[in-house]
Amino acid sequence: MDLTPKRADESATEMVQVVLPNDANPLGFILGGTVMHLIDIAGAIACHRHTRTLLVTVAVDDLQFLHPIKVGDMIILRARVTCVFNTSLEVQVDVYSEETLTGKRMLTSRAFLTFVAIDRDGCRVRVAPLLVETEEERRICAEASARRAQRLRKKTVTLASES
Ligand SMILES: CC(C)(COP(=O)(O)OP(=O)(O)OC[C@H]1O[C@@H](n2cnc3c(N)ncnc32)[C@H](O)[C@@H]1OP(=O)(O)O)[C@@H](O)C(=O)NCCC(=O)NCCS
Repeated sequence: MDLTPKRADESATEMVQVVLPNDANPLGFILGGTVMHLIDIAGAIACHRHTRTLLVTVAVDDLQFLHPIKVGDMIILRARVTCVFNTSLEVQVDVYSEETLTGKRMLTSRAFLTFVAIDRDGCRVRVAPLLVETEEERRICAEASARRAQRLRKKTVTLASES
């Protein structure tokens, strides 16, 4: 396993596609579930590029759809690893709409996903550290660590409510 530290720039991913009628609800706007699927894919690609391992999605933070994206417009997803822990890592995925005829762009969603790296037997494996060099990168990673703590607290509460 290559555990050489990597920069977020090395795995940053941009996905662009046109919204087709098959992706849309009767109002002609992309389905929320389709956006969620694309967010998962874009986030996973960035994390695969960072870890070069198999991955499972373990958490997706609360998601909002700020503006509709209509058929014929483009959906753009930008994914960037924010922080790497031991066997898990967080990625931020920003979703934009782009009007095909005007180029007008709007942020429509921001999602934070956590992936866990596993091997072919499903056992967790360590992940290469993230090179955090600038003040901005340190801030982003600190915020990711705070979200992680919050998620793990929520998980404990959910598991406790089950028993
Ligand atoms: C991911 C999975 C293997 C983790 O197993 P687990 O027994 O819960 O593992 P642990 O509690 O020991 O945590 C393992 C790592 O995941 C992280 N993690 C676990 N649950 C988490 C959650 N709800 N949110 C964020 N991180 C979480 C832990 O912080 C830990 O990270 P670290 O190694 O970087 O410190 C297991 O929860 C699983 O298989 N979940 C289902 C995944 C799935 O099917 N996804 C959808 C299809 S891809």
